Order: sequence, then C-alpha cells, then structure tokens
Amino acid sequence: MIPHVGFAMMRPTLLREHHVGQRVKAAVFPVAGRGTRFLPATKASPKEMLPIVDKPLIQYAVEEAIAAGATKLVFVTGASKRAIEDHFDTDAELERALTESGKHDLLASIRNIVPPGVACVYIRQGEPLGLGHAVLCARPAVGNEPFFVHLADDLIAGDPGCLAQMADEYADHGGSIIAVETVPPENTSSYGIVAVDESDGGRITKIVEKPKPEDAPSNSAVVGRYLLAPEIFDKLENTGRGAGGEIQLTDGIADLLNDSPVYAYSFNGVRYD
Ligand code: UTP
Repeated sequence: MIPHVGFAMMRPTLLREHHVGQRVKAAVFPVAGRGTRFLPATKASPKEMLPIVDKPLIQYAVEEAIAAGATKLVFVTGASKRAIEDHFDTDAELERALTESGKHDLLASIRNIVPPGVACVYIRQGEPLGLGHAVLCARPAVGNEPFFVHLADDLIAGDPGCLAQMADEYADHGGSIIAVETVPPENTSSYGIVAVDESDGGRITKIVEKPKPEDAPSNSAVVGRYLLAPEIFDKLENTGRGAGGEIQLTDGIADLLNDSPVYAYSFNGVRYD
C-alpha cells in the first residue's frame, strides 16, 4: 500500500511547545559531486551553475533557503567548483561597468544575490566520499543546531518554497523532517524510499537507499530537501561506506530514526529533477 503522508492533524504536544517559533539558521548545499550524469556539460563547470531561464540552479537553491529564514549558507564544495564562489561574491568591476553604462536593471540583478546579513561559508570536501560525508563536512560551520540540506539539482517550484514549508512544520513539532514525493513503483531504485507511520504524526519508521521495486517499503521517495537535527552528525561519524562505496546520508538517517523523530513531509509544489 502507498502510505499517504499527511500529518497536519497530529502533533505531539510536548515537542510542539519545545520548538514553537524556533528558526533554522543554517542551510547546507552539498555541491561537491562530479555531476557525471550531466557530462559533457559538467566537464569544466559545476552542474549547479547550469542556467535555468536566467539564473544558475544554485541561485534558486540559495533564494529558497533565504526565503525559509536561513542566514548562514554553507557550501560543501570540491574540485572545479570555483564558479559557485565567484557567483555569490561581489564583482566590483562588473558593478562599476554596469553603473557607468547606466544598465541599472542588470546591476540590480547581480547585486544582493546574497542579501546583507546572510553569510556564505565554503568548506572543501577533499574527496567525494558521498552525500553523508559531504553533510558531515559542514559540521564545524553548522554547530549544534538544526539545519537545512538542499540538493540544488532537485528544483522545486513552490509558493512558499519547499524549505519554508518545512520550517513551518518544524516550528510546529520539531524533530527532523524530510521532503518526500510519491514516485511510480518502478522508479524506487533511483531514490531513498521511506515507510511512514501515519498514526504517529507521519513519523518515518524505515528508510532504504535505492531499493528494487520488490524490496521497497512504499513508493514514497526522498527528494533533495532535509531539515535535520544536529544529532545526525554523530550518526554520520559512525556511518560506514554503504551503496556505491559512499557514505550515504540515507544510512545516517536510518540510524537517527532509532532514537529521534524523523517525519516525512509531502511538499506543495512541483519538482523538476
Ligand atoms: P549525486 O550522486 O546525485 O550527485 O549526489 P553527483 O555525484 O554530482 O552526481 P553524478 O551521479 O556524478 O551525476 C547528490 C548531491 O550530493 C552532492 C552532489 O553534489 C549532489 O548535489 N555530493 C555527492 C557531494 O557534495 N559530495 C559527494 O561526495 C557526493
């Protein structure tokens, strides 16, 4: 049976009181993967810089996180990702040239991509050992606070944005929250797949990385938005290499489920992978 992930009616009162109004300040963008699926486009430039209409993917990601209240943007980067840092940096020379030529609209479009009061932090993941490892690399910048993880290649159009929706859920009931979407049963082997207990507020009871359809606990698939409690870091420290020889975020979350609540959240919006 496909679990219906909707839990607005059920909130554990204790947790709710604890988290009312708490903001999530840090957003982690793991951008250290090689993007081999997008070759040759990603041979020399990061897939996160691929333009969609008039902006690179990573700018949509950053805007979504800022709209959700994030004020610390943590990019976990790797080889040939310098373009991402340059994109979010001020380009005084370009700004001067646009000012002198009176191109004020264009000037506005490159100014304040990162608004005042929002900080960018860049951390290198020396070797691409997996998404779980990339998230762990962000630990020194995130500290002991809940944080978002945003995978830029999952573009989600929503109003409010997906992370803002998740921040609202979090303010309501705390815990960790993972965005999910129902996928065709034959596609489960492309995603992390969750089993959800509806009678327990949408709490995830099981998570499996890329199961074959016959082994999948449901067809509720994890998409690239997470709001994680800092306890995930200790779990990831102890997560060995899993599927594909990589340290998988899914395996860290599977461990987290055992002693802390992780909820599935069916976002409102449309996802473009
Ligand atoms: P993917 O496996 O989808 O991205 O990881 P990839 O490695 O770039 O893709 P392919 O398979 O080679 O095309 C999901 C996200 O995790 C990041 C990626 O950048 C992507 O945003 N990631 C993955 C890291 O930051 N570090 C890693 O070691 C692995």
